[in-house]
Amino acid sequence: MTARRRTRGTGRSGAPPSLRTAALPTGAEKTARVRAMFDTIAPRYDLVNRLMTFGLDQLWRRTTVSSLALPAGARVLDLACGTGDLSRLARRDGYRVVGVDLSAGMLAANETATPLVEADGSRLPFATGAFDGLVCGYALRNFTDLEATLAECARVLRPGGRLAVLEVDAPTSRLWRAGYDVWFTKAVPLLGGALSDGAAYRYLPQSVAYLPPAPTLRRILRHAGFSAVGVRPLAGGLSQLVVATRRGTP
Ligand SMILES: C[S@@+](CC[C@H](N)C(=O)[O-])C[C@H]1O[C@@H](n2cnc3c(N)ncnc32)[C@H](O)[C@@H]1O
Repeated sequence: MTARRRTRGTGRSGAPPSLRTAALPTGAEKTARVRAMFDTIAPRYDLVNRLMTFGLDQLWRRTTVSSLALPAGARVLDLACGTGDLSRLARRDGYRVVGVDLSAGMLAANETATPLVEADGSRLPFATGAFDGLVCGYALRNFTDLEATLAECARVLRPGGRLAVLEVDAPTSRLWRAGYDVWFTKAVPLLGGALSDGAAYRYLPQSVAYLPPAPTLRRILRHAGFSAVGVRPLAGGLSQLVVATRRGTP
């Protein structure tokens, strides 16, 4: 257990062509590099996010939280909460939120009033069925073991509990996609390099290669214990929202 409202628990097809073959870390090396990267970029994470999405990320987060459709007072876990944007919106909807993240740096930059836990999403230090809902923003591709992490999401949700996951995506329209590739692979690394850490923002477009295609993600979620799995693009495929319901009788 550590201080400050914080306790210690323990080839996606959409990748731009130039990045599909880039060597990306796996296993313990990936976990260590992801943690170190977010520790480094935490202080300017929110600023770079707003600039690189023209503020649209907040709109997509709003949609994510709304899709939980739970009554006020529901217990919601913000998995990989980072600096807490989703937690803040969820609290505004009257939810009782707990945030969990791997990076101590991101948690230190989290200025929400949410109780925070430092832990790996694949080993959540919460009781089975402890939450009514779970949100997760832009973190799927950062998880080292996606199957184990989604199985943990299912375990900590009560039967009937709701999952809402926000992730980057790649537009299917050719024109939209061309602009997106230039912005994501050229402009964002420059912007991130100027304001934060160039290596981290070069990794960002590369990390899209970790995301499974939608049918695979649906299968993993069903296998983990979810039903009513839906995947839908936001803003023509700039982001995607994945929703699901924990199977079982409440
Ligand atoms: C792109 S940030 C997203 C932060 C926040 N959810 C948001 O919407 O802005 C990804 C977050 O995932 C966290 N993360 C990465 N791997 C993790 C893991 N295995 N367990 C928990 N958090 C993890 C990182 O530390 C980082 O805060």
